Amino acid sequence: MPEIGRRKALGVAGVAVGGLALAGCGGGGAAAEGPAPGIKGQVIAKAADVPVGGGTVVQKWKIVVTQPKEGEFKAFSAVCTHKGCAVGSPKDGVLTCPCHGSEFDAGSGKCLKGPATAPLAVYQVKLEGDGIVVV
Ligand code: FES
Repeated sequence: MPEIGRRKALGVAGVAVGGLALAGCGGGGAAAEGPAPGIKGQVIAKAADVPVGGGTVVQKWKIVVTQPKEGEFKAFSAVCTHKGCAVGSPKDGVLTCPCHGSEFDAGSGKCLKGPATAPLAVYQVKLEGDGIVVV
């Protein structure tokens, strides 16, 4: 196997990293992580724990549950589609990943800002009593 110089190797790596840095939302990119097995029918949060206009991250399920409008609950995988860090609770309708700054819409999971390129996986949920249930 031919040897390549350190400078040449770093140059190639720089091009690769630069290319990735330019990629943002809307391109192909990583697939969103799908629903966890066995989660259907589970109560993932209490409605009272999800503020209107905000949300909460449920660590047990790695899900973020949001309530963009009163009585309208949404749930997404909290696993960032960039490299898998957990996104934080929403602020001003945006879920931000603390690792590299990707941003996702708290009402749709859509990627708003890279380096992630794919939306967060969506869980269909409904309100049953005071519990938010995955359907
Ligand atoms: S892991 Fe989320 S932005 Fe990189």
